[in-house]
Amino acid sequence: MEFLPFGSDKMGKPRLFRIFLILGSLFMILLIIIYWDDVGATHFYLHTTISGPHSSRIPPENQARVRHKADDDKGNVFLSDVDAFINQFLEGTSEPSEQTQEGTPGFRNQSGEAGKPEEKFVPRREWKIHLTPISAEKRQRQEDRKQTLRDLCSNSTIDFPGKNRTFDDIPNKELDHLIVDDRHGIIYCYVPKVACTNWKRIMIMLSESLLVDGAPYQDPMDVPLEHVHNSSSHFTFNKFWKRYGKFSRHLMKVKLKKYTKFLFVRDPFVRLISAYRNKFEQENEDFYRQFAVIMLKKYANYSDPPASVVDAFSAGIRPSFSNFIQYLLDPLTEKKMPFNEHWKQVYRLCHPCQINYDFVGKLETLDEDAEHLLRVLRVDNIVQFPSSKHNQTVVSWEWDWFNSIPHKWRQDLYRLYETDFKLFGYPKPEKLLQK
Ligand SMILES: *[C@@H]1O[C@H](CO)[C@@H](O)[C@H](O)[C@H]1NC(C)=O
Ligand SMILES: *[C@@H]1O[C@H](CO)[C@@H](O)[C@H](O)[C@H]1NC(C)=O
Ligand SMILES: *[C@@H]1O[C@H](CO)[C@@H](O)[C@H](O)[C@H]1NC(C)=O
Ligand SMILES: *[C@@H]1O[C@H](CO)[C@@H](O)[C@H](O)[C@H]1NC(C)=O
Ligand SMILES: *[C@@H]1O[C@H](CO)[C@@H](O)[C@H](O)[C@H]1NC(C)=O
Ligand SMILES: *[C@@H]1O[C@H](CO)[C@@H](O)[C@H](O)[C@H]1NC(C)=O
Repeated sequence: MEFLPFGSDKMGKPRLFRIFLILGSLFMILLIIIYWDDVGATHFYLHTTISGPHSSRIPPENQARVRHKADDDKGNVFLSDVDAFINQFLEGTSEPSEQTQEGTPGFRNQSGEAGKPEEKFVPRREWKIHLTPISAEKRQRQEDRKQTLRDLCSNSTIDFPGKNRTFDDIPNKELDHLIVDDRHGIIYCYVPKVACTNWKRIMIMLSESLLVDGAPYQDPMDVPLEHVHNSSSHFTFNKFWKRYGKFSRHLMKVKLKKYTKFLFVRDPFVRLISAYRNKFEQENEDFYRQFAVIMLKKYANYSDPPASVVDAFSAGIRPSFSNFIQYLLDPLTEKKMPFNEHWKQVYRLCHPCQINYDFVGKLETLDEDAEHLLRVLRVDNIVQFPSSKHNQTVVSWEWDWFNSIPHKWRQDLYRLYETDFKLFGYPKPEKLLQK
């Protein structure tokens, strides 16, 4: 065999063709080796990842393998993302819009579908027909909240840490509050102490990330509480890396572009009261050991606080609300460890200047916002928001709670949470801050 330099005139076309054929085959073999893990385990059924409310009643024999989607079942999710990619190029707009609720095809037949192949897409659920459109007032309210965010994010007179970052600059571990539902094309940024338990329940039910006896939950309230707050029940952005490797950022951005993104917020001071009541007025071993002991030592002059919450409570010992505020204001607190999510500022949890939220709900208008949102997400035919207002912290208590807090601290606390007040349109609590 004679060796010829590439491009030599003597190298005939058939030979070139053969070289390309061999190179091509090698490349294919390489690809197959790389992706065998993903493709091999995949059952080829159609995922319509972002085409509105299809569901969900997979025939029972197929369900066993969809358990705990957040942790396994790599193959299906991989395919669903390939889907998302393809859809991105095929479809111009598939964003759920509240105006086009009727007549979207693509969901399965409700009756007698067991045993049928998955590819069959026949209407399964009726759309909930709404004779009354979403009121102009509610839609305007959303536009106003989103406009406030846009204005402040682009206004250089307001500045806060991380504001100038791009989405790519945000470290993976700060994306742990963004829960993804690929079935319906929803991303929820959960903010603790803002109805997040119930929205997490809904995300579990919709995404079917957790099944009961192989079947999806029918009622969000059936999801046991210990699963609701277990992070392995949720597929969050920070888990993308493990599953998709170097494609993860790109996939996040595709999803952020195509999916409907929402969050719920609340008056920042009232959220703090709620956090205090929930974590320090009630016996909570973890929070007692991790936070209350420090507060008692540093701000309540207990040199040797009881080791367990039971002992402390039976001795009548617990950090006061004032101790809690001192802990928040202490510059040393965040030097040790970033704020716990229950009192971390919303802008640090949800990145509202990097993520263009489609819906900004508020706890103060929870019922109306929840109804509006479920219609925007086009899942109001399968789920209702469970309203539970048991002993909820309300705005009117604010005055009583802050009565014992020195004015200086109140003003410092406002500065600490000022960005949240402004971004989400909560007025400065002048009455509390004035001397
Ligand atoms: C749904 O499935 C049942 C049983 O397979 C069939 O009789 C019915 O016509 C189907 N309905 C629609 C709308 O396709
Ligand atoms: C930016 O904010 C300041 C005060 O917060 C306001 O006076 C100004 O008009 C804003 N600028 C723009 C361009 O919105
Ligand atoms: C963001 O950029 C503006 C000017 O573009 C600058 O004044 C500001 O200090 C920056 N903020 C941060 C937190 O880096
Ligand atoms: C969370 O769920 C996983 C998987 O079901 C389980 O292994 C783990 O122990 C749970 N964690 C907690 C804190 O309950
Ligand atoms: C803390 O307690 C010690 C005695 O246990 C007392 O001498 C001291 O004055 C107390 N300090 C404050 C700030 O209450
Ligand atoms: C509501 O919570 C407060 C403490 O924040 C407690 O004192 C009160 O007993 C609770 N009420 C009910 C009805 O549980």
